[in-house]
Amino acid sequence: MADYDYDVLVIGAGPGGYVAAIRAAQLGLKTACAEGRETLGGTCLNVGCIPSKAMLHASEYFEAAAGGAMAAMGIKVKPELDLGTMHGQRKDAVKGLTGGIEFLFKKNKIDWLKGYAQFTSKDSVEVAGKTYRAKNIIIATGSSVTPLPGVEVDNDKQIIVDSTGALELAKVPGHMVVIGGGVIGLELGSVWRRLGAKVTCVEYLDQILPGMDGDVRKEANKIFKKQGIEFKLKTKVTKAVVKGKKAVLTLEPAAGGEAETLEADVVLVSIGRKPNTDGLALDKAGLAVNQRGQIETDHDFSTQVPGIWAIGDVIPGPMLAHKAEDEGIACAENIAGQTGIVNHDVIPSVVYTWPEIAGVGLTEEQAKEKGEVKVGKFPMMANSRAKTNHEPDGFVKVIADAKTDRVLGVWCIASVAGTMIAQAAQAMEFGATSEDIAYTCHAHPTHSEAIKEAAMAVTGKPIHV
Ligand code: FAD
Ligand code: NAI
Repeated sequence: MADYDYDVLVIGAGPGGYVAAIRAAQLGLKTACAEGRETLGGTCLNVGCIPSKAMLHASEYFEAAAGGAMAAMGIKVKPELDLGTMHGQRKDAVKGLTGGIEFLFKKNKIDWLKGYAQFTSKDSVEVAGKTYRAKNIIIATGSSVTPLPGVEVDNDKQIIVDSTGALELAKVPGHMVVIGGGVIGLELGSVWRRLGAKVTCVEYLDQILPGMDGDVRKEANKIFKKQGIEFKLKTKVTKAVVKGKKAVLTLEPAAGGEAETLEADVVLVSIGRKPNTDGLALDKAGLAVNQRGQIETDHDFSTQVPGIWAIGDVIPGPMLAHKAEDEGIACAENIAGQTGIVNHDVIPSVVYTWPEIAGVGLTEEQAKEKGEVKVGKFPMMANSRAKTNHEPDGFVKVIADAKTDRVLGVWCIASVAGTMIAQAAQAMEFGATSEDIAYTCHAHPTHSEAIKEAAMAVTGKPIHV
């Protein structure tokens, strides 16, 4: 291999980077992965997807027991919260999965370069004082919390926290104020509300969950309100001051106007995430970032510098683990001379609240901007399984092109929407029409039958409404 140390050197071992490294090694390329954290798996496994789902799953059980859902099925219990054990099982999940990646690295003979990498030239990086040359370098450095000026996060104090701090709270807050009605605010706000906190969500825009379908956003807001989350929409937080064990927030109408104050035991700052490029010394590689701080790539994930590639949260597109993973696979395949492709039009997104909220493809608003559409909707209330399981909230919506009937988007609010959306993504990947879905036999009784019935509603009529 001449004077190169590696065929592929990946920077960052999140779902983008570790997957790229494994695929590159599987394809016979000599591979290393630099990671600054003490464990592999990135944001997703250490402080993101996995620990948040561990807390969501456990708190869902707690609420089902405490909030009457179980009593409705004849199971009477009085749950007692053992927060230490709940945190323990979260940590166990993280430990098991991050350890699993370490095992996979060993199995695939991937060198883990322990430390933060920085470019020293177009084809070399320095990690922990040592320089490595690689034919290909993949930047997969991910993202971190966007700071909010005037609201300083200090996770150790457990008063003003980011998502990492909100996963670790040692006790249930009396009042938690969530800044930002996006995915993190709603997921982690739900965790602590279920465990007993009063939760207020302050959102700058006129509705929560920006980017999602309009009907879904409205319905989700109604459901979360019913569950007890208080929303202050069209409102911004301009300051937070810690006084003793509490924080005092200054809130202002987004459009300007009179300020008010709000006291909180815990404040969660969740206003978005920003790409990680500081400390990479990109200039040494001849690379620059765009106005949003992201590294731009071509469809094959190559950057403007030959031999340097980028994937995941650090490049444009939704900041999602499965998008990063698919890009990791495609990028490694392209490096190996194969044709790696990611269809960015069909990336599902899921909010793991109760019920779950999921979508893939265009929203109705986006689809209408592109042309005439037909929409079919079906309420979960009319789905036999959801009704039997005491899960009446939500609906499925299928959006199709009015002329060709090709499915452009599918949106669901349902207890298992995250699982249901997979079939919609697969159908769209295969270019399905609403009729294709409507005439596919779905097992009964399943929540997924609601997707079939919503598809039936696009051009005809569903049976059960
Ligand atoms: P990351 O996972 O951020 O990994 C990048 C890695 O690079 C990090 O480990 C970092 O330490 C390392 N690194 C950075 N700079 C350097 C350097 N110079 N040298 C060496 N290493 C470096 N997405 C979902 O799809 N589903 C979910 O349920 C979900 N839940 C989430 C919950 C929370 C609370 C958060 C914060 C995020 C969640 N996400 C979820 C988003 C998901 O975590 C990210 O989209 C995903 O981790 C991005 O993967 P990545 O590989 O691009 O980057
Ligand atoms: P987000 O972009 O989802 O939501 C941020 C919200 O904050 C927006 O609604 C925005 O309008 C609002 N906001 C911005 N500035 C504000 C201000 N000053 N005051 C009040 N509101 C303000 O970002 P979030 O929730 O931080 O999550 C970051 C990313 O992590 C997400 O984009 C998502 O890609 C990823 N993620 C994915 C999950 C999943 O797939 N289930 C779970 C958690 C995170």
